[in-house]
Amino acid sequence: MLTADKLADAERMDLSDFVDTARYPLHDPESDTLGAVIEEARADLDREGCAVLRGFMRPEVLEQARRESMDLADRSFYNTADVNAYFTADDPSLPESDPRRMFMRRTSGFVTRDLITADTLIHRLYVSTAMKSLVARCLGEDAIYEYADPFAGLVLNVLPDGTEQPWHYDTNEFIVTMMTQQPETGGVFEYCPNIRTPGDENHAGVGGVIRGEDRTPVKQLALRPGDLQLFKGRFSLHRITQVSGETPRLTAIFAYSQEPDMVGRLERTRQLYGRVSEKHIQAETRRVERHDALID
Ligand SMILES: [Fe+2]
Repeated sequence: MLTADKLADAERMDLSDFVDTARYPLHDPESDTLGAVIEEARADLDREGCAVLRGFMRPEVLEQARRESMDLADRSFYNTADVNAYFTADDPSLPESDPRRMFMRRTSGFVTRDLITADTLIHRLYVSTAMKSLVARCLGEDAIYEYADPFAGLVLNVLPDGTEQPWHYDTNEFIVTMMTQQPETGGVFEYCPNIRTPGDENHAGVGGVIRGEDRTPVKQLALRPGDLQLFKGRFSLHRITQVSGETPRLTAIFAYSQEPDMVGRLERTRQLYGRVSEKHIQAETRRVERHDALID
């Protein structure tokens, strides 16, 4: 029988198969090497909401991760919508120059967690306690949790030729991603660190960036397959530029929450993934029964 200790050992060995543990010794949480990595990531996150752990995945397994993602990419659900950076409806009472009135075409493909088998590298990474502990420490949290959502949580984002993710903010506090396949051209991550603050939407500045008039606040991040990116997207406007060429841009999205049992909203799930599960319906029913009118 496997004891908890043996299980932890087994997981450590598993991870060292594909994480570069010389640079990122996840098996040794108290090590100075890992401590320094975490300190730097925390400083980067505090300063501009973005940290990258370069070469997190061992180069020798990148091809396996790429192949697994390509096999999954065929099962992607695509949704195309014209959205503004805030995902709100048009408001004709505002001037045309207001960023809330600037709608951009978003085409994105997602392969949901229920289609990603437990033996894939990205799934093994997502559920690993060492990974969760690393991410929590980088964020300065005591603990973070996998989503209980059967679709979200672990998702493969698929951007084929001609697609892009236009300028937007995220609704979740933070997101962890790892590219598994780089496109030939485009598909560059761009962000404007803290272009808005809790007290100031900075509509003029945001409008300038969206119209392409002002590139001053824009930073480009050259991500490569195997880099682990931590990003706080609530205040930093960001986008992925249009992909071109035959090779789709593939990125694993690891979503964790600060509370356990997180299940996405019913309508949002339908919009994003084209279907819902019993769990989403039950969670929504419970929300109504609680008379919880909070919008999440
Ligand atoms: Fe985003």
